Amino acid sequence: MPTTVIVLAAGQGKRMRSDLPKVLHPLAGRPLLAHVLDAATALKPREVRVVHGHGGAQVQAAFVERPVTWVHQAEQRGTGHAVRLALGRVPARDVVLVLYGDVPLVEPATLRKLVAKAAGGRLAVLTAQFTDPTGYGRIVRGGRGGRVLAIVEDRDATREQRAIREINTGLMACPAGALAKMIGRLKANNAQREFYLTDIVGFAVKDGLPVVAVGAASADEVLGINDKVQLAEAGGILRRRTAHALMQAGVTLVDPGRIDVHGTLRCGRDVVIHPNVLFEGDVRLGDGVLVEAFSRIRNANVGAGTIIHTHCVIEAGEIGARCEIGPYARMRPGVELKGDVKLGNFVEVKKSVIGLHSKVNHLAYIGDTTIGEKVNVGAGTITCNYDGANKHRTVIGDGAFIGSGVELVAPVEIGAGATIGAGSTISKDAPAGQLTVSRSRQATIPGWKRPVKK
Ligand code: UD1
Ligand code: CA
Repeated sequence: MPTTVIVLAAGQGKRMRSDLPKVLHPLAGRPLLAHVLDAATALKPREVRVVHGHGGAQVQAAFVERPVTWVHQAEQRGTGHAVRLALGRVPARDVVLVLYGDVPLVEPATLRKLVAKAAGGRLAVLTAQFTDPTGYGRIVRGGRGGRVLAIVEDRDATREQRAIREINTGLMACPAGALAKMIGRLKANNAQREFYLTDIVGFAVKDGLPVVAVGAASADEVLGINDKVQLAEAGGILRRRTAHALMQAGVTLVDPGRIDVHGTLRCGRDVVIHPNVLFEGDVRLGDGVLVEAFSRIRNANVGAGTIIHTHCVIEAGEIGARCEIGPYARMRPGVELKGDVKLGNFVEVKKSVIGLHSKVNHLAYIGDTTIGEKVNVGAGTITCNYDGANKHRTVIGDGAFIGSGVELVAPVEIGAGATIGAGSTISKDAPAGQLTVSRSRQATIPGWKRPVKK
């Protein structure tokens, strides 16, 4: 049965105490709403409609590439009002699934259960057992078999009802036709003067539409984000989920509580990751890769047996097998290390290819450069790739040896097997197989005396 998902995301999120709309706050590097939309998309719905209000334009702008229908709710008059606005022209035979933009950890498997119940002609509400149910709507049961009779909001509940620990998560599914009829009957005659979506449960019971409660797999998955404490809690839950999956897949995490994956991380066998590493975007680590503490790795493909030492920043890159990077190395976008390459401490590389078995071991800047195989680039070497207006390329042939403290003024080419003397500024091509040096002659002044203070 086709499903229409309605995501309620118009609330302001006052308790976040932030200028950023609540659903844009990042969780594991992505906005809260992105997590909800991913869960919704996993169900392959016919349509996803997002009800937005506060910071609407900013929210829409953050999701331009997503195929969602935006529904504007200018004034937040309650969850029932929001659903009514979004319900227009949804085919009566669809199942409508209501999600919250600030409940980001819900699992597709749970949502499928809700939808399946609703597809059988029922109103299905997602519930959970909370030790502290304060603030939540309570599930009121009664009659034979303890059927669900109503949802009562905390503020409207009697003392006995407040003692109920089964709570309404707010997520529910219902056949669209029945939902539209019930929504039309909502009244704002309650403590908050709002149109409560939850009142449809009472209507369903009256109309003889079966109401079923689907229990959440865990309290974690229905955690609602109202403040920065809950945002951090959700981050912790996601981190544990990710770390668990990585370890199940054979990855050794030295401290599973201290890894951040803001994107996707795929690992080969016997990968070891030390604490406090941040992975962003799409990262693949080959067999036997070791990543040491405090590195940040983004959109990279890392070959088998490569070691990334502590404090490296990899902004993108293709890294071959058995390379050694860092500590304190920085790879900017457009870099390819062919294999068995060494990038040492305080080396920055950008838009360059470094051939097999080559080394850039200390304090260097390599930009817009092609380095061949078995090249040694000495400490403090700088490719001067920018003339203030344009970028130029440097080419270094196989087996070349660049002495320490060399400036290579691009465009320039160093021939295969060439040696460049330390301290040279090379602005013309250097021939293959020979020593090229550009250095003022050393002189000693006989009899020179240091000045003395008068
Ligand atoms: C709602 C439920 C309550 C449940 C709780 C779970 C109702 C009447 N109550 O209460 O039973 O236990 O969620 O967290 O439904 N929203 C809109 N437009 C509005 C009002 C709300 O888009 O006019 C959105 C909010 O952005 C939020 C969600 O709906 O994502 C829930 O709204 P919120 O005000 O947090 O609901 P509660 O009053 O906490
Ligand atoms: Ca409210």
